[in-house]
Parts: sequence; structure tokens; C-alpha cells
Amino acid sequence: VRPLRVALAGCGHVGGSLLDLFGERAQQPGDAQPIRVDRVLVRDAERPRPALAQAIARGIAAPDACITDPTLLLSDDIDVLVEAIGGTTTARTLVETALRRGIRVVTANKALLGERGSSLAALARITDTRLDFEGAVCGAIPIVRCVRSGAAGVGITKVSGILNGTSNYVLEKVAEGASLAEAVATAQRLGYAEADPTRDLSGQDAEDKLRILAWMCFGVDPATLKVTRRGIDAETAAWATRVALEGDRVKLIASCTREGDELVARIFPTRITSDDPWARVSGPFNRIVVESETAGSLVFQGPGAGGRATAGAVLADIVAR
Ligand code: HSE
Repeated sequence: VRPLRVALAGCGHVGGSLLDLFGERAQQPGDAQPIRVDRVLVRDAERPRPALAQAIARGIAAPDACITDPTLLLSDDIDVLVEAIGGTTTARTLVETALRRGIRVVTANKALLGERGSSLAALARITDTRLDFEGAVCGAIPIVRCVRSGAAGVGITKVSGILNGTSNYVLEKVAEGASLAEAVATAQRLGYAEADPTRDLSGQDAEDKLRILAWMCFGVDPATLKVTRRGIDAETAAWATRVALEGDRVKLIASCTREGDELVARIFPTRITSDDPWARVSGPFNRIVVESETAGSLVFQGPGAGGRATAGAVLADIVAR
């Protein structure tokens, strides 16, 4: 069987975990199409990358796979570009170039999709290829598939969620008495936080995901959705600590509701009683509730952050038929 030839942009928490998963998959019995990583684009070739070294040793990645020049990533025999480099500059150029050339794209890049999802999807349609992004929204929770296909209900009226694992983890830790700085440092060490954790705390990361969910649920261009938000700062962290002493919790809740012809999208720290299901979403977990005319309320809950959880979602897109 001809291997599926992959170009991987980015070898951080998600890219490295994905290489590990490729290796584990190759050891499982079955006749799945093998995956071969021809190129891995990194910013700093000198940084030790144990996952890449192991992928090369296992024959999953080519011995000369590691490159720093983005223009060398998309050779003619590539089947899938996996974009896990983040940001909206190099990532955008790579994704657009791949789609223009009819190369399938799998991305975990919520900022790029929140900004340009509509035009990228249009480009994929024009060149008759695919753009998949399960890993961009809430890690391991298969929410994109479910809302994109209509399986989460017809006539969606509202989507709401805890969409950022880092801020959820941080709110929990400050409620237990940790300082905001300590809690953020731990979230970074555990691989939940973005390269720039202010995106997590400010609510920007949740906003990117809410834009993508609104796009999938309501067909709106994600870039044009008007979102009002407040994130986690020293003041809201102190409030979360006080609220915990009174027995309740503070959670960063995002929602987008259809109100007549309008969509109302908000992200705010919200006080919740401790017996409420939202209060039980713990650590880097996420929860999404989709309300629709046909299905009532569907609840999705699971690991929303972390390299391995997200890489699992990316792998599912890569091997999807
Ligand atoms: N930094 C993100 C989070 C990672 O904490 O939820 C997953 O998108």
C-alpha cells in the first residue's frame, strides 16, 4: 500500500505528540494505510526534538525531514499538509499554498480559521480538496465533526461552552488559593497554554473557537461575528477566589445565541453554583452544549487542551475518508 505522505508544519506540543501517535499507530495490527512524514518544518533546527528523533528512528519520518525553510515544505508528492505551527502569517501562506495546489489540509489553528476560515474553505471547494480542523476546537472533543455534519441537531439555536482549558485550570487553581502567575506557569508547563498565554487568559483563544463554532452552527462568516468578552485578569481571579470561599465557582463561559435574525456572542467569567454541571468541568477539560430544534440539548465534555488530546483529533482528520 502506498503510504500517505505528510508534510508537518510545527513540532511543538501538538506536532510532537502527533509524531508519537503515528509511531504507535504503525505498531498496531491491521491494514491501515501507513503514514510517512516527508518534511517537518520547525523554527529552530537546533532545539532537541525527541519525538522527531524517535519518528526518524522508527522509519515514520524521513531522515532529512527537519527543515526551517517554509518554501521547501510542500513538495509535489505530499498528500496532506498538517499545520500545527500556529500564528497567522507562515501558517496562512502554507495553508493557502497547499489548498491552491489541491493538497488536503488538516489544521489545529483556531486563530487562522477564526480570521480566514470562510475564504480558506471556499478555496478548498474551488480546488476540490479538503480542509479539516477537528483539532482547532476543544482538543479531543469531536465537536467540529458533529456540528459540521448536522449530527448535533438541525435548527441550532444556541451553542455555549467552556472553550479554553488553560483559563479553566487557572480559575480552579486560584479558587484553591494559588496565585494567578503560579497557575499560569503550571498550565504552561503541562502543555495546556498557548505559546502566548495572554490569548488564553484574555478570552481570545475561546473567542477563536466560538467564531469557528458559530460558523459551523449558524453558517456565519467567522470573521464577521461580533463577540463581546472579558477574560481572566487580577480582578476576576481575586473574585474567583472570593466566590470559592462562599462555596460557588467562577467559570469562563462562551455562548452564541440566535435571537431572531441576530447572533449574540459573549464570553464572560460567570458565577456558578457548585452543584451545577458547568462547575464540575475540571482542569483542562472543556464542555460544549448545543441546543437545537431537533435534538434539544446535546452535551459534549472532555479534554480540551494538551498536546496528546489535540494530536488525537488531528490524527482522526488525517486518516478520515
Ligand atoms: N490553550 C488552549 C486551551 C489549547 O487552553 O484550551 C487548546 O486549544
